[in-house]
Amino acid sequence: MWYALLSSVLIILFSLVMYSVLKEKMRSDDEQLLAGRIAELRAILSQHASDYSRLREEIEREASTSPGIYLQVLDGKGVVIAETGGSVAKRIPDIPIRPETWTAGSGFDWIAEDGNSYRIMSSHLVLDQRFTVHAAIDRTNNEMLLADFWRLLSIVGLLVVVIAVAMSYGIARKGLRPISRLAAVMDQLDVHRLSHRVNEEPWPEELQPLAQMFDGLLSRLEVSFSRLSQFSADIAHELRTPLHILRGEAELTLTRAASVETYRASIESAADEYDRLSCMVDALLFLARSEQPDTHIDRQVLDARQEVVAVFDFYQAMADEQDITFTCLGEGTISADSALLRRALGNLVANALRHTPDGGRITVEIRPQPEHTITLIVSDTGYGIPPEDLPRVLERFYRADVARPRQGQGAGSGLGLAIVQSIMHLHGGTISIHSAIDHGTAVTLMFPSATTTG
Ligand SMILES: Nc1ncnc2c1ncn2[C@@H]1O[C@H](COP(=O)(O)OP(=O)(O)OP(=O)(O)O)[C@@H](O)[C@H]1O
Ligand SMILES: [Mg+2]
Repeated sequence: MWYALLSSVLIILFSLVMYSVLKEKMRSDDEQLLAGRIAELRAILSQHASDYSRLREEIEREASTSPGIYLQVLDGKGVVIAETGGSVAKRIPDIPIRPETWTAGSGFDWIAEDGNSYRIMSSHLVLDQRFTVHAAIDRTNNEMLLADFWRLLSIVGLLVVVIAVAMSYGIARKGLRPISRLAAVMDQLDVHRLSHRVNEEPWPEELQPLAQMFDGLLSRLEVSFSRLSQFSADIAHELRTPLHILRGEAELTLTRAASVETYRASIESAADEYDRLSCMVDALLFLARSEQPDTHIDRQVLDARQEVVAVFDFYQAMADEQDITFTCLGEGTISADSALLRRALGNLVANALRHTPDGGRITVEIRPQPEHTITLIVSDTGYGIPPEDLPRVLERFYRADVARPRQGQGAGSGLGLAIVQSIMHLHGGTISIHSAIDHGTAVTLMFPSATTTG
C-alpha cells in the first residue's frame, strides 16, 4: 500500500512539474517574441512617425515576417494609425499601460469573444505626441497543446498508478512468500524435531540472519532439552541403585532366620541409605526451586569472616579427625543470603575435606574487589581435579574421582557443586574452579555488590 501510494504521489508530482515547466516555457517564449516585435515597432515608429503611409508599409512588412502576431499603432488621441491582422487587432482592449512597461513590457492574457486566447504586450513611445503600440500573439494552439499534454499526462499517470499498485502488490507478495514458507517450516518443529535446522534451505539474503538466529535458538533448546532428559535419566539411575540395595538387603534379611543383631545392623545400614536418599532428594528439590525465575533470596549485609568461621565450626570435628587445619584470611562485608552462603561454603569445605589427605590445609580467603564486589576463595592442598574432568564437575551428578581414594565415608551424589553454582546464580555471582593434580583445588566465588544486582 505504501509502495503504491509513494509511487502515485511521485508520478502526480512529476506530471505537475512537467506541465508547469512546459507552460512557463511557452509563456516566456511568447513574451520574448512579443518584446522583440514591440522593439521593432518602436524602431519603425521613431523613424517614420510623421509619414503614416510609410509607417503602415513598414509595419505590414514587419508583420509578414512573423505570422500569428498582430500589431497595432495608435496616435496620441487613441486613433489607430496602423495595424495588421485586422479584426483581431481591432478588438484589442483599451488598456492603461503602466509606465514601467513602456520599454520593457510584460504581457497579459486575453480571451477574445470567439474563445481564442491571446497574449498582449503594449508600450508607449513619446515623440511629438504619445504613441501607443500593441503586439498580440494567438495562443490558441499553445493552449490546445497544453490541454492535450495535460490529458496525456492524466491518462499515462493513471495507467502508471494502476501498474504501480499492481506491481507493488506483486512484489510485496513475492517478497513475503519466503516468510510464509519460513513460518510453515517453523510450524512443523516440535520437541521431537529439535535437530531440524531451518537454514538448510536457500533463504533470501534478508531472511538469513533470522533463520540463523532461529537455528541458534533451536541449538540452545536442543542442548537444554537433551540436558534435561539426561538429568531425568540420571535421577532415575541415581535413585534406582540405592533402592535396589535396600530391597536386596531387606529380602536377604527376610530369607534367613537372623538374630536381633543382624536385624539391627540391617536396619541401621538401611537408615544410612535412607539418609543419603533423602539428602539427594533435598538437593534435587533445592536445585529445582532455585531455577524458578521468581525465587526470592533473603539478602543481608553480612560479615564474611563470621560466616566462614561458622562453617569452619560446623566441620571442625571432621577436620580434627583428618588432622586438617582451617585458615580464614582477610575480611569484608558481603551482601548475601546467610543460609545460602553457608550452604555454598559448606559444600566447598566438605569437598575439600573429602579430597584432601590427612595433615592438609583448607583456606578461605576473603578478598574485597573494586566496585563493592567481593570474592571468596576456598582452596585446599588436596588431590586436585583431573583437567579432563574440570569442565564437567559443575554438572549435576558428575563425580570426577570414581577411581580415586576418598577421604571420609560414603560417595557423594555429585550435586554439591551444582548447588553452589545455582546459589551463585541466585546472587548474580559466578563460580570458577582452578585445580592442579596433587597440588590442590581453588574455588572462587564472586559476589557482586548489592546495588548492581538490586
Ligand atoms: N576440592 C576438591 N578436590 C578434588 N576434587 C574435587 C573437589 N571438589 C570437587 N571435586 C570433584 O568434583 C566432583 C563433583 O563435586 P560435587 O561437590 O558436585 O559432588 P560430590 O562431592 O561428589 O557429591 P556431593 O557434594 O553431592 O556430596 C567430585 O566428585 C570430585 O571429583
Ligand atoms: Mg561435594
